[in-house]
This record gives sequence, structure tokens and C-alpha cells, in this order.
Amino acid sequence: MQVTETGSSMRVTASAPGKLMLFGEHAVVYGRPCLVTAVDLRIFAVTENGSRTDTPYVTVHASVADTVIRMPLTDVLTAETYPREAAFVLAAVRRIAERFRLERDLTLRTHGPQRSFGLGSSSAVTVAVVGSLNALLGLDLSPREIFQTAYAAVLDVQGKASGFDVAAAVYGGTLYYDLSREIIEPLAVPELPVVIGFSGEKVSTVNLVGAVAALRDRHPERIDTIFDLIAALTQDARDALLRQDWALLGELSQMNQGLLDSLGVNTLSLARLIFAAQAAGACGAKLSGAGGGDCMFAIADAPKLEAVRAALRAAGGEIVTLATNAPGLRLEP
Ligand code: MEV
Repeated sequence: MQVTETGSSMRVTASAPGKLMLFGEHAVVYGRPCLVTAVDLRIFAVTENGSRTDTPYVTVHASVADTVIRMPLTDVLTAETYPREAAFVLAAVRRIAERFRLERDLTLRTHGPQRSFGLGSSSAVTVAVVGSLNALLGLDLSPREIFQTAYAAVLDVQGKASGFDVAAAVYGGTLYYDLSREIIEPLAVPELPVVIGFSGEKVSTVNLVGAVAALRDRHPERIDTIFDLIAALTQDARDALLRQDWALLGELSQMNQGLLDSLGVNTLSLARLIFAAQAAGACGAKLSGAGGGDCMFAIADAPKLEAVRAALRAAGGEIVTLATNAPGLRLEP
């Protein structure tokens, strides 16, 4: 752990990875399991203690949005909403400040890649902030408590979310995640033979989750049956992953994709990429995350990976080169 003392103040840097949802999106919001791998798209949070004071201020420098926000801690604790660029950071500060008395001014800086492709930068920044404050303030929170604190903060901002991305940011690696049974299971798997393709479109996760909720309101039994099928596929995919049976994993991903189509979250550009990957010899492909745009991934045997990449480019996709199975939350020098 690296804690730097600068005069009377202390500074801690922590980082957390993004995520690639493998199986189970949307169904996981309704208590079904999912599979996720952490990806090496790291977001950094630098926290610094200032002077001791009766009226602490919180200052957030969000480098991705290039903004600075300064608020009294009392406002952070009572605000109904936060400025969008710093919402996850301030929600994380609030969740910590509700449990632990903050007696000093606090400065937070966050930075990461300019583009995040919908691969979990909000959950990563939230976890990095909680992890960094944990070390700065000597709170001694366990990984489980860091997960719970960061998940609560994400819910404060997003309203509805399963927390799988928060788990990926805390624990890293590849996880089987089933919150309804309190399971966050790290899976012993190697770097996955996947190609990630970005569709070029971007839609808000909150809107997509809302659209699926509205569909479920209109057809509760049918949609719950689809969620149950997705859960069964996710269970099979967990076993296929552990056996490194990429052909089976690909086949299961195609079935999961069909069910996501039935939820109405596919798009023409994602579909083009998915079909192009299959035609180039991938074992299977599906969208990843909320849908409506962002990323898909293809599973392919090593000799086919290059052909799949070329096919995705030709179909209008952008290849996102990121290692899977990335390490979770860590303190940085
Ligand atoms: C978004 O990446 C995945 C969803 O299942 C939402 C969530 O799990 O919070 C659509």
C-alpha cells in the first residue's frame, strides 16, 4: 500500500478495472446469476486529506469531464442529486461519510482512459474512490464491505442496478455472480479467447433497464420465463468456462443472444457484428451489457481470432483490445 504524506496531508491512489459482461445481463437485475470478467481498463482515484476543520469541504477534479466541483460536506450528505460528472464520486464519499466522521477537507482526483466503450467506468470509479478512502482514512473495510459500500453508491445514482460490475471492479478476475444467493465466486480460468467489438453507438444503461422493466410489466410471466432460461444458460456457461470448452461456450452465447433479442435490446449494428463474427468462424458471439449499442464480443479458437477481428472491422466495428481476467481494486504507488 502506498500512502504519501505531503506536509500535514496524506494522499492515496487506488485503481479498479472495468468489466465485460459475458452472460446473464438484464436477467441479473431480477435476481438471476451472471458471468463477468474484469477488463484492463483501469480508472484511478487519488484522494487527499486537507486541514482539520469543523466544516470540511469536498473537492472533486474529474479529469475525464475536465471539471472541478467543490461542495461543503454537509451538502454532499444532504443533496438530492449531484452534478453528473462527479455523481459516482460524490455518492461514494457520501456513503463513507455516513458511516465514518470526516474531520478534514477532502480532495479527490479521478482519471482513466478517454474512452470507456460502456465497459464499466462508473462502477470502476466508484470502487476506486471507496478503496482509496478506505486506505486514506484507515477504515479497514473488507473487500465485501467495499463492495457493499460502492454498490450502495451506484444504486444512489442509477436507481436500479445488479452490482455485478461493482463486484468485477472490487475482486477482478472472472466471476460467477448471484446476489440473490450472496455468491460472488471467482472462477479459475485463463485469459479468455474473446474479441471485443464496439458498435459505435451509445445508449444509457438506465434507459435500457427501464425499457426491459416496461416490457416485463406488460408480459410478466413471459419475461420471467426468458430470465429463467438466461439463468440456466449462465449456469451451463459457468461449467463450460471452467472446462475451457470454447465451442460450447460459443454455442451458449448464441442462445443467450437470441434471448436478448427477444428483450428488444439488440441493434442493427450489433447484429451485423455478431453475424460477421460467426461467418468468420467464431464459436459464438453476443452483445455485452445493456445492449442498445456499446460492445459485443466473440469467442473464437486462437487460430480464428485474427480473422474474426478483420471481419468485425469490415462490418463497421472497432476492435477494443483489452486483457480479460484483469486484477481487481488495488492501491497504486
Ligand atoms: C449493464 O451492463 C448490465 C445490466 O444487466 C444492468 C445491471 O446488471 O445492472 C443491463
